[in-house]
This record gives sequence, C-alpha cells and structure tokens, in this order.
Amino acid sequence: MAIDRGIQTLDEFTIQQMRNFPKATGELSGLLRDIGLAAKRVNVEVNKAGLVDILGDYGSINVQGEEVKKLDVFANNQFMGVLRHGISCAGIGSEELDDLVIFDDEISNQSKYVCLFDPLDGSSNIDVNVSIGTIFSVFRRVSELGKPATREDFLQVGNKQVAAGYVIYGSSTMLVYATRRGVNGFTLDPSIGEFTLSHPDIKCPESGKIYSVNHGNFFQYDKPVQNYIDACQKKNKSNGGPYTQRYIGSMVSDVHRNLIKGGIFMYPGTTDKPNGKLRLLYECNPFAFIVERAGGIATNGKISILDIEPTQVHQRTPFFIGSKNMMEELNSFIQG
Ligand code: AHG
Ligand code: MN
Ligand code: MN
Repeated sequence: MAIDRGIQTLDEFTIQQMRNFPKATGELSGLLRDIGLAAKRVNVEVNKAGLVDILGDYGSINVQGEEVKKLDVFANNQFMGVLRHGISCAGIGSEELDDLVIFDDEISNQSKYVCLFDPLDGSSNIDVNVSIGTIFSVFRRVSELGKPATREDFLQVGNKQVAAGYVIYGSSTMLVYATRRGVNGFTLDPSIGEFTLSHPDIKCPESGKIYSVNHGNFFQYDKPVQNYIDACQKKNKSNGGPYTQRYIGSMVSDVHRNLIKGGIFMYPGTTDKPNGKLRLLYECNPFAFIVERAGGIATNGKISILDIEPTQVHQRTPFFIGSKNMMEELNSFIQG
C-alpha cells in the first residue's frame, strides 16, 4: 500500500512508478536520479553566476560554431560525470561534444540506456539573469548488451525515446520529465535539496493565446509561416485572437511556459538557415516527446518531429511545437 507522505520526492516518485511495473529493473529510475543530481549541482553554479568569475566566454567555439560559455562546459562535465559513473548509461551525446562519448567499461557496457543532452540551453541569457535550462533524451540501446554502445543507439527516431525531460533554472528550479505514461514536474525544494512533485500529470491546454517566435527573422521565413504570424496578430479570429507574443530566447523557458499555459513556439527555417537553428536530437526530440505526451503536437512543418530519421548527431531542423488547436491552425497555413 502506498504511504501518503504529503510530498513526494523525485526518487520516491520514480521508485513508486517502478513498483507499479513489476518488470522494471530500476535502471531508468537510476538514470533520472543521476540527472537530478547533476541538475542540482548545475543549479548551484547557475545561482552563483552573478557572483563569481564563472561568467563570460570560455574562449572556445563549439561544434555548432558558437561561443562556449563557462557554465556550458561546467554543466556538460557534470552531466557527463554522473552518467559515466552511474550504472544506467552506456554513452552520451551532447551539444558541447563534437562526437558521441561511449563509456566502454564493464558496467557501462551492460547498461540499457544512452542519453543525449543540451547541458545548458539559452546560455546567451546567463549574463542577464534570465532563465536557462538543460534538455535530455533517453533511448534504450538497440545494440547488444555487454558490448560498447554504437552510433545506432543514438540515431534512433524520436518515437523510440523512453524518456525525455528538461530542467529549468528559473525563479524556482524545476525538473520535468516524460515517459510513455505521462509528464510530471518536480520543483526543487531548497530547504531539503530535493525535487518534489509539484505538477503531476501535466497536460498541455488544447488552445492557447501565446505565440513565441523570433520576429527579427520575419522576412526570412517562408510565406506561409509569415501569413500565420500575421494571423496571430489579427483580431477577427474564431479562437479569440489577437494572440500575445512572448519570446525569451531560451527555448526551455519558452516551451515550458507554453506547455503550462497553452501556446505555440516556432523556430522556422530561414533563407540563411533553411533548417533553422535547433538541434533534432537533444533540443527538438525531447521537447516533442514531452509535449506530445502532454497532448500537444510537434512538427518540422511537414512531418512529426518524432518521425524524423536522424542521420547526424548535431543535425538541425525547423521546429513548431505547442497546443493541439494552434498547431492545427498553423498546419492549415503551411499545408495550404
Ligand atoms: P543554446 O544556448 O543551447 O545554443 O540554445 C539557444 C537556443 C534556444 O534556447 C532559443 O530558443 C534559441 O536558441 C534562440 O535563438 P535566436 O536568438 O536565434 O532566436
Ligand atoms: Mn540549446
Ligand atoms: Mn546549449
């Protein structure tokens, strides 16, 4: 019988889930615990960012050709460290690493899962005290257990994710994760240093009033996307427009808000960058999985994000995600 403790920590929750599923080995719970631990360490550094000399550029350029901030590197090392030393993960892919890292030791080779992550998303916002986040995606390996993980383990279609989540370092710190069974959100209680269940069974409202897009790129978007954005600003809408525009420039924060309040987030292709900016494997796939599990929709403008067959670890894709009715409305513009 379940004991009613009033509050449930992340560990208690994942263990409870496991008890409801007798075949579970506890490896996924272990993986989430490891991620929660790394998130707490990153949270401490993020909160100190204004005080200590951890701000600023690290000086190097990452594989995307972008500047690396110090906290990106710190976060990457924390997540890589806990996963490497845990017993649930056979290897990782990260925005901050040129290539996959296969752990290849006796215990890791027995591990069922591989993990892809963006250790710090929205990191250009660190210097200005705006919320940033971590995004992660978990696949069950397709390669033989007992041997090192392979590229195929990571380059799986998004529909095969077994779990995905994000951490938001905001006015409070939250960890939200999804499995096939649903989406749950945990808020870090600083008094006990634990993530506690605060948003059980999150559902994305079917309709919303918020649209999030970088308006600065407007004239670089395809005509149908421009027409949809125009429509978002018009009054005579059956769905109660005009909508409200909100764009933080930190996808974790933008999509988190829209997931809770209802809304649509877009990072379309532009004339300069036809595939947009966001990365399929550790930015779009995990959010697509979370939002779809919560009842929303995510596409690249043509097909579901979760149906895209990846070919490269760092590949990019146009990204449209949000409330079901708003996504259907967008689709009516794109598909004609
Ligand atoms: P990252 O900090 O990991 O490079 O990602 C930043 C991303 C995303 O969080 C955000 O939505 C987007 O970049 C903003 O891009 P623009 O400034 O081009 O709108
Ligand atoms: Mn990012
Ligand atoms: Mn990043």
